[in-house]
Amino acid sequence: MTTRREFLEQGAATIAALTVPALARAATPRFAELKARPARVQLAPPTYPKTEIWGYDGAMPGPELRMAQGARIQRSFLNELPQASSVHWHGIRIDNAMDGVPGLTQPAVEPGQGFDYDFVVPDAGTYWYHAHNRSTEQVARGLYGALIVEEPEAPDIDREEVLILDDWLLDPETAQIDPDFTSRHDRSHAGRRGNFIATNGRFDLSLDVKQNERLRLRLINAANARIFVLSIFGMEGWTVALDGMPLSEPKPVSEVLIIGPGQRADLIVDVTAASGETAHLVRVEDQEGVSQVAFPVSGRAAAARRGSPHPLPPNPRMDISGMEKAVTARLNMQGGAMGTLDAATLDGERKSFRQLVEANQFWSFNGTIGMTDTPLVSVPVGETIKLEIYNDTSFPHAMHLHGMHFREVTGDAGLGPFRDTLLMFGGETRTIAFVVDNPGKWLFHCHMLSHADSGMMTWLEVA
Ligand code: C2O
Ligand code: CU
Repeated sequence: MTTRREFLEQGAATIAALTVPALARAATPRFAELKARPARVQLAPPTYPKTEIWGYDGAMPGPELRMAQGARIQRSFLNELPQASSVHWHGIRIDNAMDGVPGLTQPAVEPGQGFDYDFVVPDAGTYWYHAHNRSTEQVARGLYGALIVEEPEAPDIDREEVLILDDWLLDPETAQIDPDFTSRHDRSHAGRRGNFIATNGRFDLSLDVKQNERLRLRLINAANARIFVLSIFGMEGWTVALDGMPLSEPKPVSEVLIIGPGQRADLIVDVTAASGETAHLVRVEDQEGVSQVAFPVSGRAAAARRGSPHPLPPNPRMDISGMEKAVTARLNMQGGAMGTLDAATLDGERKSFRQLVEANQFWSFNGTIGMTDTPLVSVPVGETIKLEIYNDTSFPHAMHLHGMHFREVTGDAGLGPFRDTLLMFGGETRTIAFVVDNPGKWLFHCHMLSHADSGMMTWLEVA
């Protein structure tokens, strides 16, 4: 008997054999290269050996891509990894063909092959790019970088810093990346969590600042599963954007800032600590504050602080209208350890929880595990959709929508800020709304990458 999975795999092999020669690319790339390749970097303290990573252009993080709003990114991705890969441009309202999802928007790029990415960036803000094939492994090995789109008019700041937060699961002796990317425990619990936390690949990142200096901090959570809970010390500031999109009013950073995997936050902060002191971006762990980034202060940038910052200019075409006649859909999330899932459909067959555990699959959306040929919902372009999501599990999940930004429907309070990733805790029901103005096949998945790999992945069709 041939299972549906075997059948699909055979089909995939045949299609690959037929199409690869046509996809094979001329030796000279059309655009500037972005090359994914293994490299060695000093991640752990210098008394440890270098860590073997996979990085874009051999760097970790990969090169910062920075451009003006409305500009065009043209990059020839070249795969020098030992496995197939692709690049996803997280948070960009992109042309679907450039979204970088193997099997949905493009074939996976085999080792030695390439793919030309060519698209316009419509929105200013803080975005990032990362591998989107076998992401649990490829992102954990270092395949990500910042994608920064500048506002036409720069905000009133003295300088900015892009801070990519990540945790690494390293062997405590050799400092090499733990190669068990399919751990049953990680998949069925909170995902793959690291034992070594870094910012921009540095565990001891320290940035010299001056008192009263005004910085823009662009925070990106690139971790597989860790939720960063942050606060600031020796600085005062405002959140001015979330997931790239400006807030209509800057929001003072008074309490902790919670950034789930895939999410970003742009802060504008004033250094209030005096010369000789050290300000910190602090990670809150078990009620304790641990320095994530140190900002030693020397000298003064100005005699006094500035007033509160202006909001960043809004991005284009962001309105949500037609809420009354919105298409509604519901997503029930089940599974994981201590969960309520006792059976689900996997590869077209009903499986008991025990069978799912054997298949190393743990999470279902509306009773189905992982991607199928059927979208969660199919909506005509231009409609407004309201999606109610119930997290009937014991774990948080960071639900990421490709290609569009949504707003949370917050009852009487109206609509929350535009986001592309929604962090949901166990037992919560949350509703998001968005206008499906971008045609194509758009992934919707948990950005805790071990969860995405073990069931939490679906897609929307906008036609
Ligand atoms: Cu940042 Cu589907 O991913
Ligand atoms: Cu999850």
